[in-house]
Amino acid sequence: MKRLGLCALFLLALAVTAYAVLAYGFLPLGSVVHPDMKASFLVHRAGLYAHVFAAAVALAFGPFQFLSAGRRRFAMLHRWMGRVYLGVGVLVGGVSGLYLAAFAFGGGIPKAGFALLAALWLYTGLRAFTAIRRGTIAEHRAWMVRNYALTFAAVTLRLYLPVSALAGIPFEQAYPAIAWLCWVPNLLVADACFNGVRNRSRPALPRGPA
Ligand code: HEM
Repeated sequence: MKRLGLCALFLLALAVTAYAVLAYGFLPLGSVVHPDMKASFLVHRAGLYAHVFAAAVALAFGPFQFLSAGRRRFAMLHRWMGRVYLGVGVLVGGVSGLYLAAFAFGGGIPKAGFALLAALWLYTGLRAFTAIRRGTIAEHRAWMVRNYALTFAAVTLRLYLPVSALAGIPFEQAYPAIAWLCWVPNLLVADACFNGVRNRSRPALPRGPA
Protein backbone atom coordinates (compact mmCIF):
# COMPACT_ATOMS: atom_id res chain seq x y z
CA MET A 1 0.00 0.00 0.00
CA LYS A 2 2.82 2.35 1.01
CA ARG A 3 4.71 1.34 -2.16
CA LEU A 4 1.62 2.00 -4.30
CA GLY A 5 1.20 5.46 -2.77
CA LEU A 6 4.85 6.26 -3.38
CA CYS A 7 4.58 5.08 -7.02
CA ALA A 8 1.53 7.29 -7.54
CA LEU A 9 3.38 10.24 -5.95
CA PHE A 10 6.34 9.82 -8.30
CA LEU A 11 4.19 9.23 -11.37
CA LEU A 12 1.90 12.23 -10.83
CA ALA A 13 4.71 14.59 -9.80
CA LEU A 14 6.87 13.65 -12.76
CA ALA A 15 3.92 13.80 -15.20
CA VAL A 16 3.09 17.39 -14.16
CA THR A 17 6.80 18.32 -14.25
CA ALA A 18 6.97 16.94 -17.80
CA TYR A 19 3.84 18.93 -18.73
CA ALA A 20 5.38 22.15 -17.38
CA VAL A 21 8.73 21.63 -19.13
CA LEU A 22 7.18 20.61 -22.46
CA ALA A 23 4.40 23.22 -22.54
CA TYR A 24 6.62 26.13 -21.45
CA GLY A 25 9.94 24.98 -22.88
CA PHE A 26 8.75 24.06 -26.37
CA LEU A 27 5.36 25.64 -27.12
CA PRO A 28 4.56 29.33 -27.69
CA LEU A 29 3.75 31.00 -24.35
CA GLY A 30 0.16 30.52 -23.26
CA SER A 31 -0.81 28.02 -25.95
CA VAL A 32 -2.25 25.54 -23.42
CA VAL A 33 -4.24 27.94 -21.20
CA HIS A 34 -7.39 30.08 -21.31
CA PRO A 35 -6.95 33.13 -23.64
CA ASP A 36 -7.24 35.57 -20.68
CA MET A 37 -4.48 33.72 -18.85
CA LYS A 38 -2.39 33.77 -22.01
CA ALA A 39 -2.77 37.56 -22.22
CA SER A 40 -1.62 37.90 -18.60
CA PHE A 41 1.29 35.47 -19.09
CA LEU A 42 2.50 37.49 -22.11
CA VAL A 43 2.66 40.60 -19.91
CA HIS A 44 4.35 38.82 -16.97
CA ARG A 45 6.55 36.60 -19.10
CA ALA A 46 9.68 36.67 -16.87
CA GLY A 47 7.76 35.95 -13.68
CA LEU A 48 5.85 33.16 -15.34
CA TYR A 49 8.94 31.42 -16.75
CA ALA A 50 10.81 31.81 -13.43
CA HIS A 51 7.81 30.30 -11.66
CA VAL A 52 7.20 27.38 -13.99
CA PHE A 53 10.80 26.17 -14.19
CA ALA A 54 11.76 26.78 -10.55
CA ALA A 55 8.55 25.25 -9.18
CA ALA A 56 8.97 22.27 -11.55
CA VAL A 57 12.32 21.55 -9.86
CA ALA A 58 10.58 21.37 -6.48
CA LEU A 59 7.84 19.13 -7.82
CA ALA A 60 10.34 16.73 -9.44
CA PHE A 61 12.90 16.63 -6.59
CA GLY A 62 10.41 16.31 -3.73
CA PRO A 63 9.46 12.63 -3.97
CA PHE A 64 13.12 11.52 -3.98
CA GLN A 65 13.67 13.37 -0.70
CA PHE A 66 11.09 11.19 1.05
CA LEU A 67 12.80 7.88 0.18
CA SER A 68 14.28 6.76 3.51
CA ALA A 69 16.75 4.32 1.90
CA GLY A 70 18.04 7.11 -0.35
CA ARG A 71 18.39 9.47 2.62
CA ARG A 72 20.48 6.94 4.52
CA ARG A 73 22.67 5.73 1.63
CA PHE A 74 23.09 9.00 -0.25
CA ALA A 75 23.08 11.55 2.54
CA MET A 76 25.13 14.10 0.61
CA LEU A 77 22.82 13.84 -2.42
CA HIS A 78 19.81 14.29 -0.11
CA ARG A 79 21.39 17.45 1.29
CA TRP A 80 22.17 18.94 -2.12
CA MET A 81 18.78 18.07 -3.55
CA GLY A 82 17.22 19.63 -0.45
CA ARG A 83 19.18 22.84 -0.96
CA VAL A 84 18.09 23.04 -4.61
CA TYR A 85 14.50 22.09 -3.67
CA LEU A 86 14.26 24.88 -1.09
CA GLY A 87 16.61 27.48 -2.60
CA VAL A 88 15.48 27.24 -6.21
CA GLY A 89 12.14 25.41 -6.20
CA VAL A 90 10.38 26.86 -3.19
CA LEU A 91 12.13 30.24 -2.86
CA VAL A 92 12.14 31.26 -6.55
CA GLY A 93 8.92 29.33 -7.35
CA GLY A 94 7.17 30.76 -4.28
CA VAL A 95 8.19 34.40 -4.72
CA SER A 96 7.25 34.29 -8.41
CA GLY A 97 4.02 32.40 -7.50
CA LEU A 98 3.15 35.21 -5.06
CA TYR A 99 3.80 37.75 -7.82
CA LEU A 100 1.64 35.82 -10.33
CA ALA A 101 -1.14 35.46 -7.73
CA ALA A 102 -1.74 39.22 -8.04
CA PHE A 103 -2.70 38.69 -11.71
CA ALA A 104 -4.38 35.27 -11.42
CA PHE A 105 -7.37 34.54 -13.60
CA GLY A 106 -10.88 34.91 -12.16
CA GLY A 107 -10.78 37.70 -9.56
CA GLY A 108 -10.24 38.03 -5.82
CA ILE A 109 -11.01 34.46 -4.72
CA PRO A 110 -8.36 32.72 -6.84
CA LYS A 111 -5.93 35.58 -6.23
CA ALA A 112 -6.30 35.13 -2.45
CA GLY A 113 -6.12 31.32 -2.75
CA PHE A 114 -2.86 31.39 -4.73
CA ALA A 115 -1.37 34.17 -2.60
CA LEU A 116 -2.00 32.27 0.64
CA LEU A 117 -0.66 29.08 -0.97
CA ALA A 118 2.54 30.89 -1.99
CA ALA A 119 2.94 32.47 1.46
CA LEU A 120 2.48 29.13 3.23
CA TRP A 121 4.81 27.42 0.74
CA LEU A 122 7.55 29.91 1.61
CA TYR A 123 6.78 29.77 5.34
CA THR A 124 6.80 25.95 5.60
CA GLY A 125 10.02 25.88 3.55
CA LEU A 126 11.65 28.35 5.92
CA ARG A 127 10.52 26.31 8.96
CA ALA A 128 11.89 23.12 7.40
CA PHE A 129 15.20 24.87 6.71
CA THR A 130 15.60 26.41 10.19
CA ALA A 131 14.64 23.06 11.79
CA ILE A 132 17.40 21.21 9.97
CA ARG A 133 19.93 23.95 10.70
CA ARG A 134 19.16 23.37 14.39
CA GLY A 135 19.43 19.60 13.88
CA THR A 136 15.83 18.85 14.85
CA ILE A 137 15.20 16.11 12.32
CA ALA A 138 11.64 15.13 13.33
CA GLU A 139 10.59 18.77 13.08
CA HIS A 140 12.35 19.16 9.73
CA ARG A 141 10.52 16.10 8.43
CA ALA A 142 7.13 17.38 9.62
CA TRP A 143 7.63 20.77 7.91
CA MET A 144 8.83 19.10 4.71
CA VAL A 145 5.69 16.94 4.67
CA ARG A 146 3.58 20.11 4.90
CA ASN A 147 5.73 21.87 2.33
CA TYR A 148 5.51 19.08 -0.23
CA ALA A 149 1.75 18.76 0.35
CA LEU A 150 1.62 22.38 -0.85
CA THR A 151 4.00 21.72 -3.77
CA PHE A 152 1.61 18.93 -4.77
CA ALA A 153 -1.09 21.57 -5.36
CA ALA A 154 0.41 21.74 -8.86
CA VAL A 155 -0.77 18.14 -9.38
CA THR A 156 -4.16 18.32 -7.68
CA LEU A 157 -5.03 21.52 -9.57
CA ARG A 158 -4.35 19.75 -12.85
CA LEU A 159 -6.46 16.78 -11.77
CA TYR A 160 -9.43 18.89 -10.66
CA LEU A 161 -9.48 20.96 -13.87
CA PRO A 162 -10.32 18.06 -16.24
CA VAL A 163 -12.67 16.53 -13.62
CA SER A 164 -14.61 19.81 -13.35
CA ALA A 165 -14.72 20.06 -17.15
CA LEU A 166 -16.07 16.50 -17.39
CA ALA A 167 -18.67 17.39 -14.75
CA GLY A 168 -19.80 20.21 -17.05
CA ILE A 169 -18.70 23.04 -14.73
CA PRO A 170 -17.57 26.06 -16.76
CA PHE A 171 -13.87 26.91 -16.28
CA GLU A 172 -14.73 30.41 -15.02
CA GLN A 173 -16.77 28.90 -12.16
CA ALA A 174 -14.48 25.99 -11.37
CA TYR A 175 -11.19 27.91 -11.25
CA PRO A 176 -11.86 30.08 -8.14
CA ALA A 177 -12.84 27.00 -6.12
CA ILE A 178 -9.93 24.97 -7.46
CA ALA A 179 -7.47 27.72 -6.45
CA TRP A 180 -8.33 26.73 -2.84
CA LEU A 181 -9.26 23.07 -3.27
CA CYS A 182 -5.90 22.32 -4.88
CA TRP A 183 -4.03 22.85 -1.60
CA VAL A 184 -6.22 23.05 1.54
CA PRO A 185 -7.18 19.31 1.57
CA ASN A 186 -3.59 18.33 0.61
CA LEU A 187 -2.25 20.11 3.66
CA LEU A 188 -4.87 18.73 6.07
CA VAL A 189 -4.62 15.14 4.80
CA ALA A 190 -0.80 15.08 4.68
CA ASP A 191 -0.54 16.58 8.16
CA ALA A 192 -3.07 14.11 9.60
CA CYS A 193 -1.59 11.05 7.86
CA PHE A 194 2.14 11.71 8.10
CA ASN A 195 2.52 14.13 11.03
CA GLY A 196 -0.23 12.64 13.22
CA VAL A 197 0.00 11.54 16.84
CA ARG A 198 1.16 8.05 15.78
CA ASN A 199 4.09 9.51 13.84
CA ARG A 200 4.92 12.08 16.51
CA SER A 201 5.19 9.38 19.18
CA ARG A 202 7.66 7.37 17.06
CA PRO A 203 11.18 7.40 18.48
CA ALA A 204 13.26 10.26 17.09
CA LEU A 205 15.43 9.41 14.12
CA PRO A 206 19.08 9.02 15.00
CA ARG A 207 21.01 12.28 14.70
CA GLY A 208 22.89 12.32 11.41
CA PRO A 209 22.77 13.72 7.92
CA ALA A 210 19.29 14.91 7.01
C1 HEM B 1 2.77 25.75 -4.42
C2 HEM B 1 2.83 27.03 -4.74
C3 HEM B 1 2.40 27.56 -6.07
C4 HEM B 1 1.73 28.73 -6.26
C5 HEM B 1 1.29 29.70 -5.21
C6 HEM B 1 1.51 28.86 -7.68
C7 HEM B 1 0.87 29.93 -8.27
C8 HEM B 1 0.63 30.05 -9.62
C9 HEM B 1 -0.12 31.13 -10.22
C10 HEM B 1 -0.79 32.27 -9.47
C11 HEM B 1 -0.15 30.91 -11.55
C12 HEM B 1 -0.87 31.78 -12.60
C13 HEM B 1 -2.29 31.29 -12.70
C14 HEM B 1 -3.25 32.33 -13.29
O1 HEM B 1 -2.80 33.28 -13.93
O2 HEM B 1 -4.45 32.16 -13.09
C15 HEM B 1 0.60 29.69 -11.80
C16 HEM B 1 0.78 29.14 -13.03
C17 HEM B 1 1.50 28.00 -13.24
N1 HEM B 1 2.15 27.22 -12.30
FE1 HEM B 1 2.16 27.53 -10.32
N2 HEM B 1 2.05 27.78 -8.32
C18 HEM B 1 2.60 26.95 -7.37
C19 HEM B 1 3.25 25.76 -7.58
C20 HEM B 1 3.57 25.27 -8.82
C21 HEM B 1 4.33 24.07 -9.03
C22 HEM B 1 4.94 23.17 -7.95
C23 HEM B 1 4.41 23.89 -10.36
C24 HEM B 1 5.12 22.75 -11.00
C25 HEM B 1 5.27 22.50 -12.23
C26 HEM B 1 3.67 24.99 -11.00
C27 HEM B 1 3.48 25.18 -12.36
C28 HEM B 1 2.74 26.17 -12.93
C29 HEM B 1 2.47 26.26 -14.36
C30 HEM B 1 2.94 25.28 -15.43
C31 HEM B 1 1.69 27.40 -14.54
C32 HEM B 1 1.11 27.95 -15.86
C33 HEM B 1 -0.36 27.58 -16.01
C34 HEM B 1 -0.55 26.20 -16.58
O3 HEM B 1 0.01 25.86 -17.63
O4 HEM B 1 -1.30 25.43 -15.96
N3 HEM B 1 3.19 25.80 -10.02
N4 HEM B 1 1.05 29.21 -10.60
